[in-house]
Amino acid sequence: MSLLIKNGKVYLEGNLVSKNIFIEKDKITKITSSEVKADKVIDASNKIIIPGLIDPHVHFRDPGLTHKEDFLTGSMAAAAGGITTIQDMPNTLPPVNNLQVLDEKRKAARKSVVNYGLYFGCDADNLSEIEKASNVPAVKVYMDHTTGNLLLNDNQVLEKIFTSNKFIAVHAEKKNVKRCLDLIEKGDNGIYFCHISSKQELDDTQSKSIENNVYVEVSPQHLFLTKDDLNNLEAFGEMKPSLKTKSDQKALWKGIKDGTVDTIGTDHAPHTKEEKLAINYPFGIPGCETLLPLLLNAMHENKITLNKIIELCSENPANIFKIKNKGFIKEGYDADLTIIDLDLEKEVKNEELFTKCSWSPFNSWNLKGWPIMTIVLGEIIFDNGKINKISAREVEYGK
Ligand code: NCD
Ligand code: ZN
Ligand code: ZN
Ligand code: ZN
Repeated sequence: MSLLIKNGKVYLEGNLVSKNIFIEKDKITKITSSEVKADKVIDASNKIIIPGLIDPHVHFRDPGLTHKEDFLTGSMAAAAGGITTIQDMPNTLPPVNNLQVLDEKRKAARKSVVNYGLYFGCDADNLSEIEKASNVPAVKVYMDHTTGNLLLNDNQVLEKIFTSNKFIAVHAEKKNVKRCLDLIEKGDNGIYFCHISSKQELDDTQSKSIENNVYVEVSPQHLFLTKDDLNNLEAFGEMKPSLKTKSDQKALWKGIKDGTVDTIGTDHAPHTKEEKLAINYPFGIPGCETLLPLLLNAMHENKITLNKIIELCSENPANIFKIKNKGFIKEGYDADLTIIDLDLEKEVKNEELFTKCSWSPFNSWNLKGWPIMTIVLGEIIFDNGKINKISAREVEYGK
């Protein structure tokens, strides 16, 4: 099978260039000005082709919590949002804290229509399993209370994990941000701060000059909502870390501008409507389908550039997690591509979402700029509202 995407503007090394993209099987084999004969041709006139987004932080709830989401529905939501690769968190049931459970999740993930990587979790005594886990983006450490019971607080245990042979991704809030830097400094690992949400935390990530690589993720909910929105959203706006003030939000946008922020991860964390309406509602909101439209809409409002969106959502995740052959449109790279229509204006509608939970805090927001086609490994997975259920595969780490 070969595929030609012609007449579009292609995002190449920071510029939009009129080129045709020729795809054979799962790879981009030619980026050219001439017309190449192909089995199938896509006319992308007036459209832009960008490297597929990599969402470093999702919860697809599979196995064990599949009444909220599963690898098929979660990945369909991702594809509809222009995301071609996701990294799934370990707080599923049972939690991914040993090799056998990792293997079970690998089986569950075969349903995924986008590429995936699977985090490894940790508890007080699984260090030997952590060290043996292979092809994982990082070990996820939970230092504050959130969904699941992988919380760790003991400094001795934490030190062993932070100095293990794995890259560290962490849920750390408030004082725990600085605590992480003290811990990571004892070894030579890098650290990835998930969903940083306040000015203080963002400043704290930069508070030390250490040799370890320090990366910062922010999430769309903290960029586009504040705690004022809780009046309307109630439990549907409750997540960890919680929504913050306007001035915190401003600091996150400034961090994007000045390069402090490295990635945007949706923290797609679906829970059912019934669960959210209960008195003891769980924390978390879905986000895969709205990430790119929110950012493109923000681009129209001059809050962010297309280059910055691609840097944060495609290039940096590929580089930080060392994902092989992804994140860029290049000959020889995987054909993971998102075609966007910058002029398309559309409302977010709960009833049109692919996520199993069928709701979004951004319901009824009118947004300008949407993905219209998502190509994963050379296959058209999302095409103007429709999904083709073709399985993708696990990514390879360590390029
Ligand atoms: C996440 C979940 O539900 O799994 N919840 C959330 O509020 N963000 C867990 C997490 O990322 O902390
Ligand atoms: Zn978290
Ligand atoms: Zn940095
Ligand atoms: Zn999360």
